Order: sequence, then C-alpha cells, then structure tokens
Amino acid sequence: MNIDIISFLINLTCILLLPSLKFSIAVDTLDLSQSFTNGMTLVSQGEKFVLGFFSPMNSNKSYLGIWYKNIPVQTVVWVANGVKPINDSSSGILTLNDTGNLVLKQRDEVVWYTTSQQGSLNPVAQLLDSGNLVIRGEKETNPEVYLWQSFDYPSDTILPGMKLGWNLRTHTERRMTSWKSPDDPSPGDLYWGSLLYNYPEQYLMQGTKKYVRVGPWNGLHFSGVPDQKPNNVYAYNFVSNKDEIYYTYSMLNDSVISRMELNQTDSIYYRYVWSEDQQIWNVMKSLPKDRCDYYRKCGVYGICTITGSLLCECLSGFSPRSPAAWNSSDWSQGCVRNKPLNCTNKLNDGFVKVKGLKIPDCSHTWVDQTIGLNECRLKCLNNCSCTAYTNSNITGEGSGCVMWFGDLIDIREFENDGQDLYIRMDASELGKEGHDGLKKNLISILASIIIASGMLFFGYRLYILRHRITEDSENIELEGGRGSEDEDDLDLPLLTYSTLVTATDNFSIKNKIGEGGFGPVYKGRLASRQEIAVKRLSSDSGQGINELKNEVKLIAKLQHRNLVKLLGCCIEEEHRMLVYEYMPNNSLNWLIFDDTKSKLLDWPKRFNIICGIARGLLYLHQDSRLRIIHRDLKPSNILLDDKLNPKISDFGIARIFGLDQTHGNTSRVVGTYGYMAPEYAADGLFSVKSDVFSFGILMLEIICGKRSRGFYVENESPNLVTHAWSLWKEGRALELIDKNIKDACVESEALRCIHVSLLCVQQFPEDRPGMPSVILMLGSDGEFAKPKEPGYYVNKYSFAETSKSGQSEKTITNQMTITLLEAR
Ligand SMILES: *[C@@H]1O[C@H](CO)[C@@H](O)[C@H](O)[C@H]1NC(C)=O
Ligand SMILES: *[C@@H]1O[C@H](CO)[C@@H](O)[C@H](O)[C@H]1NC(C)=O
Ligand SMILES: *[C@@H]1O[C@H](CO)[C@@H](O)[C@H](O)[C@H]1NC(C)=O
Ligand SMILES: *[C@@H]1O[C@H](CO)[C@@H](O)[C@H](O)[C@H]1NC(C)=O
Ligand SMILES: *[C@@H]1O[C@H](CO)[C@@H](O)[C@H](O)[C@H]1NC(C)=O
Ligand SMILES: *[C@@H]1O[C@H](CO)[C@@H](O)[C@H](O)[C@H]1NC(C)=O
Ligand SMILES: *[C@@H]1O[C@H](CO)[C@@H](O)[C@H](O)[C@H]1NC(C)=O
Ligand SMILES: *[C@@H]1O[C@H](CO)[C@@H](O)[C@H](O)[C@H]1NC(C)=O
Ligand SMILES: *[C@@H]1O[C@H](CO)[C@@H](O)[C@H](O)[C@H]1NC(C)=O
Repeated sequence: MNIDIISFLINLTCILLLPSLKFSIAVDTLDLSQSFTNGMTLVSQGEKFVLGFFSPMNSNKSYLGIWYKNIPVQTVVWVANGVKPINDSSSGILTLNDTGNLVLKQRDEVVWYTTSQQGSLNPVAQLLDSGNLVIRGEKETNPEVYLWQSFDYPSDTILPGMKLGWNLRTHTERRMTSWKSPDDPSPGDLYWGSLLYNYPEQYLMQGTKKYVRVGPWNGLHFSGVPDQKPNNVYAYNFVSNKDEIYYTYSMLNDSVISRMELNQTDSIYYRYVWSEDQQIWNVMKSLPKDRCDYYRKCGVYGICTITGSLLCECLSGFSPRSPAAWNSSDWSQGCVRNKPLNCTNKLNDGFVKVKGLKIPDCSHTWVDQTIGLNECRLKCLNNCSCTAYTNSNITGEGSGCVMWFGDLIDIREFENDGQDLYIRMDASELGKEGHDGLKKNLISILASIIIASGMLFFGYRLYILRHRITEDSENIELEGGRGSEDEDDLDLPLLTYSTLVTATDNFSIKNKIGEGGFGPVYKGRLASRQEIAVKRLSSDSGQGINELKNEVKLIAKLQHRNLVKLLGCCIEEEHRMLVYEYMPNNSLNWLIFDDTKSKLLDWPKRFNIICGIARGLLYLHQDSRLRIIHRDLKPSNILLDDKLNPKISDFGIARIFGLDQTHGNTSRVVGTYGYMAPEYAADGLFSVKSDVFSFGILMLEIICGKRSRGFYVENESPNLVTHAWSLWKEGRALELIDKNIKDACVESEALRCIHVSLLCVQQFPEDRPGMPSVILMLGSDGEFAKPKEPGYYVNKYSFAETSKSGQSEKTITNQMTITLLEAR
C-alpha cells in the first residue's frame, strides 16, 4: 500500500514536471501551439546549433538566426530576417501557422515568413544537428518531402550538406550572399553565383559584375581552383543532372567543424576550420588567392602568370592590342591575333596546345560529354567561329568535349595541375609554334646523321624523320637504326702495343694530356704523322678479350660529327687502349674557365658548341644503334676541333667496363660531383634524363664561364644552379652571362639557353625534357614550360674544388663507390 502511494506520487511529480522540463532542457521543435519570443531558443538534439534572436555587435536591431551552440565566439550561420530587422530587442514573435509556415512578427507587422505551398495536418518546425531548420509533417522523416528548409535559403555561410547551386525543377538558386557588414546581415553585393552556361560556371559576383571566376567543374575540381584536392578534413562533390546542379561538401570527421563564408569587408570567400585548442576560426582556404584570380585581369587572349616577370602576357601568336598600354601594365585591352583567322580555308587552321591553364570564360561554349578529344578537334575545326577546345572532364585520361566560340577571356596559368587548352591558329602561325623550328632542326639533324651514319641508313632515317614531322615532337622515343646494318662489320684497326709505345714516347709524362674516368690519356703521333690521343684503360675491366673487342667495335660504330672518333684500339696481353682522333684545341674545360682564353669563345661560338653537344647527345640517346647513357658529361669531356666544333668524348666507356645498361640502378656510380643528377648521385639511378641534367649544368657553365662547383657569390649561393635560379626568378637572368662575351651576345638566344638549362636541371627526371625537346627548344622562339626550382645534389663530404688536373679521389657514400673524375 505504502509502496503504491509512493509510486503514485512519483508518477504525479513526473507528469507535473514534464512541461517545464521540456522548456528548460534542449528543445529542438516548435509546434502549432507555441509562440517563440526573444530570449527563447531551440537547440538541436545533439546540441550543435541554436535558433534564437540575436543582435550583431554594434546594432540595436534584432534578428532571428542560427549559430553554433558550443563555439564561444557567436558565429551566426543563417539569418531569417536580414532584410527587415526588428527594431528593438523584445518585440519579435515567431509562430508556426496552420498551413505550415513560420511567420515572424514585430507586434502586428510581419517582418519575415516562409512560403511553403504544400501544407500539412500537423506541421512542426525543427532545428536539426546539421544547422538546418526544417518544417515538416509531425510524422514525416523523409527530407525529400520537407515543407521548407533553411538550407534552401543560404545566408553568407555554407554548412556541410548544403547545396550551392540550382534546383532546376523549381528554377531556384541556392546562393551564398555576403552580409552587408559585420553588424548588418542584410545581403551585401558579393555572392557566389552558378551561371547556367552550356558548361556551367561558378563565380564570385560583385553585383552584376564578374569578380572572381571559380570556373567550370572539370570532373576533379573547379578549373580555377586546382589546389582543391582530396583532403582529410572534408569531402566535396559537384552534381549536375537534369534536376539539379550544385556543389556540396561533407565533413569526414564529425568532431571537426568547418564552414564556407563570403565576407563583404574583405571581398573574399573563406573556408574556416574551428580550432578547439586556440578557440578561433582558422582559414583553411580563400579566394581570390592572388592577383591572377581577378576576372579578366589580362584582357582577351591574355594569360596571367603569377610567377612571370610580367603579370600578363599574350598567348603566343597574339600581341598586345595597345603595346603602349601593355607596356605601362594596363592589361585591360588584351591581345589580338598576329594573323587573323580566315574562314575561307578553315580546314587549314590548326591548334596550339597550351598546358597548365585555368580554361577561359565559358559564357559561349558548347559541350558534348560523349565524344573525345579527336572528334572535338574536328568539330571545332569545322566551325570557323570555334576558337578553342579541350576535354570537358579531365578525370583519368580525359573525356568529353568543350568548345569555345568567340574571344578567349580570363585565362591564367597555374604552377601545378592546370588544364590543357587547344587554341585555334591560322596555318601560317602554326609553324612559329615549333613546327618550323622542328623542320629547321630536323634538317640539321638529318645533315649530321647523313654525315655520321653514312648513306647506308639513309632510307631508314628518312622514314624516322618523316614520322617525326607528322607526330607531336614531344617525347618520341625511337630506337634508331635497328635493322639493316647488322651484317656491316666496320673493321676496327687493331694497333700494336709497340706502335703506341713509339707514338707516345713510351707513355711519357710530357705527353700525358689528361686523366679520364678509366685511365690516363696521352697524345701521340703515328709514323704517318697523324696525331692521336691514346686512352690507356686501367686493366680491371673485368671483360674477356672477345667481349671487349665486341664492345669496342660497337663504340667505334658510333659516329657523329659531335662525337670524338675512335680510330682503333690495342688489346694485347694486359694492355687495353683506345685510340682517338686528336683534338688540337683541347677541352672546353681548358677554355671557358680561363679569363683570357674564354675571350676566344664569343657568344655565337658558344651557342654553336651548346647545339653541337646537344646533337651529339641526342645521337647517343636515340639515334645510334645502341642507346648510350654518357654518365659523365662535363666540360673536360667536350673536346674542340680546329674550328672549335664540340666533340663529346669518353662515351660508351662504361660499356667496356660492363657497367652499361641503358637505364637502371647501379652500385658503381661513375660521374663527377657538380654534374650528376640528384637521383644518380644519391641512389645510383641513371637514365637519359640524368645525362640531360649534366647537359643543363654544362650549358650553364658555358653561358656563365663559371664552374658549377666552387662557385661563390659572397657566399650567397652554394652553386651555379642555385645562383642561376635566384637570378632567373628575379628576372635578372641576363646577369648570368659571362662578362667576357657580353658584346657579341644575342640576348634572346642566351636567355633561351638559360631557360632550357633550368628545365634540364629540374629535381625530378620526369620534369626534365628529353634531348629531342631540348634541340627543338634551342632552335625555336616558342613558349616553353616554366622551370620550377632546380634540383641539386649537395655533396656532404666535400665542397672544395679539386681543380688540379690529373687528380682523382674516391669517396664512399651509401656504400657506393663514387669516382670523382677530374680535368684532363
Ligand atoms: C542603440 O540604442 C541606444 C539607446 O537606445 C542608443 O544610444 C544607440 O545610439 C543605439 N545604437 C545604434 C547603433 O543605433
Ligand atoms: C523600425 O523603426 C523605423 C523607424 O524608427 C520604422 O520606419 C520601421 O517601420 C520599424 N520597423 C519595424 C519592423 O517595426
Ligand atoms: C500562414 O502564413 C503564410 C505566410 O505569411 C500565409 O501566406 C498564410 O496565409 C498563413 N496561413 C494561415 C492559415 O494563416
Ligand atoms: C569579415 O572579415 C573581417 C576581417 O577579416 C571580420 O572582422 C568580419 O567580422 C568579417 N565579416 C563577417 C560578416 O563575418
Ligand atoms: C568524369 O569522368 C569520370 C571517369 O570517366 C566519371 O566517373 C565522372 O562521372 C565524370 N564526371 C563528370 C562530371 O562528368
Ligand atoms: C576527429 O577529430 C578529432 C579532433 O580533431 C580527433 O581528436 C579525432 O582523432 C578525429 N577522429 C578521426 C577518426 O580522425
Ligand atoms: C616598352 O617599354 C620598353 C622599356 O620599358 C621600351 O624599350 C619599349 O620601346 C616600349 N614599347 C612600347 C611599344 O612602348
Ligand atoms: C582568306 O583566304 C583566301 C584563300 O586563301 C584568300 O583568297 C583571302 O584573301 C583570305 N582572306 C583574308 C581576309 O585574309
Ligand atoms: C558554329 O557554332 C555556333 C555555336 O554553336 C553555331 O551558332 C553556328 O551555327 C555554327 N556554325 C556552323 C557553320 O556550323
């Protein structure tokens, strides 16, 4: 009995307490019977968000809004009556009426209301943990049939799960709009707009003006925001179908709080992440990021390059409309074609591929998701108002087609992850893009090949050349000369040891002219009075006589006017010697680093030397029947003939020592610090690209007349490469040029060489051009890739320059033998 009374009392208490409990503890729902006044709040179930009345800092007005529950700096994410504030801080009343609409009144005047049409028997308004205020039927849980939701009416903030863009069924835009000022939540003039072009685009708009073009969605990110990458904070998505086009994001970790906001004061879009430790909002991302982000910064056909010496440049094939204005940094008038397009022979037009871009304004575009790049090109070519095309979706290999009509506007360049664009050009302009240069160079390559390889391989070469002319010039890796010449066994003269003893005066020290990688070199003179250079190989070649003979024969077949010619050899008992033609003008090493002698090498001669070395190296890499990686390219291995033509020496020696593969990883590093590519010096990885690196260094040395190592400018730059890079970045590259040759110097040529050499010394092999591209670049005035910061192997053991000739030293690094070879 007693127990019954107690339980009755408990029940009674509970019933009596319940309503007040309901109001003092978090309530997230408002129903028909209630009116919601100033001082009351709805709190979402998980206590994430609050709905209530607030007054911005310096304002006496009050607004109905939503803010974070647990963030001490009141951060309002949504405002109902931004346009029509309540004049004081006590008279606002929010109610839900029978038709399922929220109505906000100040006394009897309606200041805000929702416009749901559907109606529902028992509507409720509920604040969800997502920050979404929804009106729904009491029993309804399906978001699709909510009567109304605040997420459809964003203020200046986009929360996870909100959609930024269009509902095409209702033709309404969910638009993020800035507050007028921090104390006035009425709409400012800055908003994120989704423009429904054929290729829809996102913009930050300022009133009706395009302010920052975020760009179209390219499958991976907005074209103007290439640094948007999958990250561990939020996931993002862009949805485009017949019903909707929108951008949205979601948090990957529920305990991380992030929001996107448009800020009128700064005119910037921010993505913030709340820092629990510091109790502040940290900026994770912002737009505009730099000057190139402002719409139309460089006018039509201009390209904005934040790292360039000039902010704006014309696309190649175009020139400033007003050179004077352009000169005074007024880019607004943009650029015009050097050669206008001519519709009568549209099929003769072609396209220039420009890489690394934010693609142009998409107002006048046409899209077909179903066709690829080739068909796209044809379609564009066939319509003479089509000015450019590219893939509409760059995911994977790329797919889809987007074409531009009319002028190309608002192009910028990105350091990483920009897109390709194919720009229409008159046929006569295409040549200037490199095809002319290509032909010009091919003719010289052809010439040298004919001289070198003899007419025997002519037909085959011609085939390759024709092939190359029609193909893109980049990255064609052809193994040259396979086929016909196997049976031709150029007999290599064998010289006797005694002949060479006589020729070199018993290898007298006064005849020693150098110390190469695999042994000393002596000058000699045969009985016929022909001068020769004899390389005496150290005997530990590890090869049997027959293998050695075979290798020597192969090397003897490498003949090119920019390679030192192997005349014969001597293999007798323990003696192993190679006999080369003698080069009267010694090595480059001997000339360019000497203040007096270097004056003999004026710019035209140096340029000729650079091009010669490049051709020789190209031949080794891909035109000879063997692919030879030189592995030790440096000035002392470049000999000069009587007309100062360069000839590469010491190639193929590694093969004789059984070291050569054309590509690979070796425990025996043969090379010289200062010229070795980082991956080769550090890990023994070599390839044609490690030779390209050495070539880049060599080229810089030729231009500057300074050694790569042992180079100090008041101790600011540890070496020539870093010095060159810092001057280049500052637009002072011309200062690199050897002062001894300033007079006859063709600055554009020298600059181009410096540019190419910086590309050659990039950190990563894949960023370096191959020798075919190097040759093309040396011979053309086209635009080519911007170098990134170069790579350089820092030798931890020795910075000291060992310039005494004949010196060699051995250092152990990572258990690899590094042979330091020095000047001959
Ligand atoms: C707010 O109200 C107070 C007193 O009513 C007044 O002195 C003040 O100027 C008002 N501030 C603003 C920004 O209107
Ligand atoms: C606020 O006050 C101003 C004048 O002081 C008046 O014009 C306006 O109608 C008021 N607004 C509301 C919602 O009462
Ligand atoms: C509810 O409010 C909306 C918006 O003010 C209004 O259009 C509608 O007529 C109201 N319904 C009722 C029954 O008062
Ligand atoms: C915009 O940014 C400024 C400064 O960065 C800040 O003071 C202001 O509160 C922000 N405005 C809004 C509406 O958040
Ligand atoms: C882009 O292509 C990828 C792979 O083909 C596909 O999965 C994706 O849906 C495409 N995106 C768009 C926006 O078409
Ligand atoms: C989520 O974020 C919180 C706070 O930054 C962190 O402590 C937690 O480890 C994260 N959880 C996961 C699964 O990453
Ligand atoms: C542009 O300026 C440079 C020097 O600043 C001058 O040499 C050149 O002639 C100018 N070009 C034009 C078209 O004004
Ligand atoms: C266009 O090309 C045709 C045929 O080559 C030529 O006759 C005509 O003059 C050209 N028109 C212009 C504007 O260059
Ligand atoms: C070229 O394309 C434009 C834009 O799609 C179109 O208006 C025009 O009719 C096309 N011209 C031809 C010749 O197909």
